[in-house]
Amino acid sequence: MQGVAAVLLLPLPQAFAAGTESGTESSPANSKGRVLILGATGRIGRFIAETIYEAGYQVRGVTRNVARAKSRFSGDYEWVQADVRDPRTLVGPMSDVDYVVSSIRSSEWVGAYSPEMVDYHGMRNLVEAAKAAQVKHFVLISTATSGPQVDQTKNPAKNYVRHFKTKGEAVVREGGLSHTIIAPGRVPEEPGGKTGFILLARKDYYVSQITAGDIALVTLDALTNPAARGKAFAMRNEPGVPLGAWRDQYADMPDK
Ligand SMILES: NC(=O)c1ccc[n+]([C@@H]2O[C@H](COP(=O)([O-])OP(=O)(O)OC[C@H]3O[C@@H](n4cnc5c(N)ncnc54)[C@H](OP(=O)(O)O)[C@@H]3O)[C@@H](O)[C@H]2O)c1
Repeated sequence: MQGVAAVLLLPLPQAFAAGTESGTESSPANSKGRVLILGATGRIGRFIAETIYEAGYQVRGVTRNVARAKSRFSGDYEWVQADVRDPRTLVGPMSDVDYVVSSIRSSEWVGAYSPEMVDYHGMRNLVEAAKAAQVKHFVLISTATSGPQVDQTKNPAKNYVRHFKTKGEAVVREGGLSHTIIAPGRVPEEPGGKTGFILLARKDYYVSQITAGDIALVTLDALTNPAARGKAFAMRNEPGVPLGAWRDQYADMPDK
């Protein structure tokens, strides 16, 4: 199944490290702020963490297993342990956080880590925690095949994962947080900035690719770009499109 394969050898990102587990340090004066990244050990999230770190932010990576994360990554991040299903575990990691990025997904289709428990109820916990922490912006990495443009209640595939991801998106959209929803299709685990890409409304999406590195570039931009606020969109690599042309597209993107 997509999303549960163990990552055994992770050369990326260089910046990952055996950081502290406590999350009590404050941002240094030269930092652009602290970003809490849920899913920082994941296939897309690790590209996001690297890009955000290299841009001068402090990265606090959330994992359910700090020892495992440290054994897989080397670099200079802070790791904290939390499980979105349990709101109590989110309080400490959220302290002194400026921005939140969620790139999580359920690690099983049925059971305690199902889409309902992680992508929906977990997202509700996460949004509540981010609101309580008064973060400046929240970026959700969702998926091109979810979203309210299709009635996902009638799509039982993979234990209604698209339905529950759609509900998780609604929690973010309606939760009162400044937010951006990025909804990729197929995602090669490759660096960004090599090929041009476009942003597109999900109603216009058809099966296509966007590299994890390009998702990371847009995530970084969305943290502080007012034009990205309240927008939801898919992305597609398109050879021939000038690098950076996507920055002019936010205004045409819908809110869901
Ligand atoms: N990869 C793709 O091809 C693709 C395509 C389209 C859309 N997407 C979307 O992109 C997002 C990220 O996908 P991905 O493929 O990068 O994910 P992934 O590689 O399967 O990683 C999932 C991440 O979620 C974290 N996680 C799972 N359950 C958690 C919980 N209960 N509490 C806290 N963290 C939890 C895991 O952290 P630990 O295991 O360290 O705890 C892991 O870092 C998802 O929304 C997915 O639907 C992915």
